[in-house]
Amino acid sequence: MSEVAVQIAREAADLAKSVRDEAVTDGVDTKSSETDVVTAGDKAVERLVRDRLAELRPGESVLGEEEGGEAALDGLRWVVDPIDGTVNYLYGFPFYSVSLAAQVDGESVAGAVVEPVSGRVWSAAKGCGAFLDGQRLRVSATERLELSLVGTGFSYSVRRRTAQARVVGDMLGKVRDIRRAGAASLDLCAVAAGWLDATYEVGLHRWDWAAGALVATEAGANLRLPVKDAADGLGDEMVVCSAPGITERMADALREVDAGSV
Ligand code: IPD
Repeated sequence: MSEVAVQIAREAADLAKSVRDEAVTDGVDTKSSETDVVTAGDKAVERLVRDRLAELRPGESVLGEEEGGEAALDGLRWVVDPIDGTVNYLYGFPFYSVSLAAQVDGESVAGAVVEPVSGRVWSAAKGCGAFLDGQRLRVSATERLELSLVGTGFSYSVRRRTAQARVVGDMLGKVRDIRRAGAASLDLCAVAAGWLDATYEVGLHRWDWAAGALVATEAGANLRLPVKDAADGLGDEMVVCSAPGITERMADALREVDAGSV
């Protein structure tokens, strides 16, 4: 299944790149807020992914950011974010991806994250490891949160962003530095490669994390996903992905700054 994910995500990334100039001039719209952008590129790429899945994996259900889809978690379902990092895509900031995962009962079993600009291909299959352009990935060996580079992201809700900025300010005193690069799937892949030691974000959608989370865990990261009625003090909507050496300290730090409450 990961071969199918890689094949389709590659084709989709080529399309995202080739239609970009037109898609960001004539085809731009907003969704939940002015920051929540959708372009003709997002829509065209999701259509291509759905068409290709229908050919290669007929009858299997699909959940996508732009067209929605099957809500039930049980069974096999493909999860696609046609362009993760749409604001970057709009501005030509070259950090965005096509993210495609296969999930069984809500758990990722295969995934591909392809970057249209660099051509980088991140992939993973459950139990088989994670790869960047064919090279096996391994998370960082760091054991000190205060020496860690940490990624994060912001929600599209203005109220929430303000609270998330407060959390970033508090977290800055606990880590070496923080990056907000603009594509959650790639933040997760960056943890897999050791380019980041951890990443966290409240309010991600399944399509943002489904493929990148598998790449990260198959590279050895620990993952905390959104959970209903969470009992660990991190709230119901937090995704945290971290190298094993800092997982506990990272969760403590997020609790100390009340990051899950935003
Ligand atoms: C967004 C990006 C961003 C994250 C947002 C996501 P989109 O995805 O992953 O980094 O901070 O929460 O919604 O909308 O560009 O697919």
